[in-house]
Amino acid sequence: MARMLRKVVAILNRLIQLDYDAIESHKSAMSKLSDAADRAQLGAFVTEHRRHVDELASIVRNLGGEPASHGDLRQVVARGKVVLGALVGDRAVLEAMRGSEVESTAHYEAAVSQPGIPVDILAVLERICADEQRHQAWFAARLAPVAGASATPLK
Ligand SMILES: [Fe+2]
Repeated sequence: MARMLRKVVAILNRLIQLDYDAIESHKSAMSKLSDAADRAQLGAFVTEHRRHVDELASIVRNLGGEPASHGDLRQVVARGKVVLGALVGDRAVLEAMRGSEVESTAHYEAAVSQPGIPVDILAVLERICADEQRHQAWFAARLAPVAGASATPLK
C-alpha cells in the first residue's frame, strides 16, 4: 500500500475507534437517563455512529486495509462507562456526552482538513462531520439554560 493510502487508512481507523467509543458511551448514557425522549435521541445517534463505522470500514477495506474492529479501550474507560458511572442526574450525563461529541467533532474537522485525502473519501468524511456537528448542536440546545418549549426541563 502506498504511503499516502496507509496514512488515510490510519486516519479512518482512528475515526472508526472514536465512533465505537461513542456507541459505547451513548449506550451507557442511555441506561442512566430518566427522560425517554433523551434516551430515544441518543438511540438515534447510536444508529448514526454505527452507520459511520460501517461506511468507514468499507472504505478501509476498499483501500486494502484492515478496519479497526473495536474502540480504544482506554478512551472508553476515560470517557464512557467509568466516568458516566459516577455521574448523577440527566444533566450531568448529557454534559459528559456533549464533551465526548465535541471531541468527536474536532477529530472529524481535523480529518477533513488533512491534505491528500481522495475526494470521494473526503465527501464521506464531510457528511459524517456534519452529522457530528448536528449531534453536538443537539446537546448544546438540550443543555441550554432555557429549554425548548417541548423539552422536559433538566434537573
Ligand atoms: Fe455523535
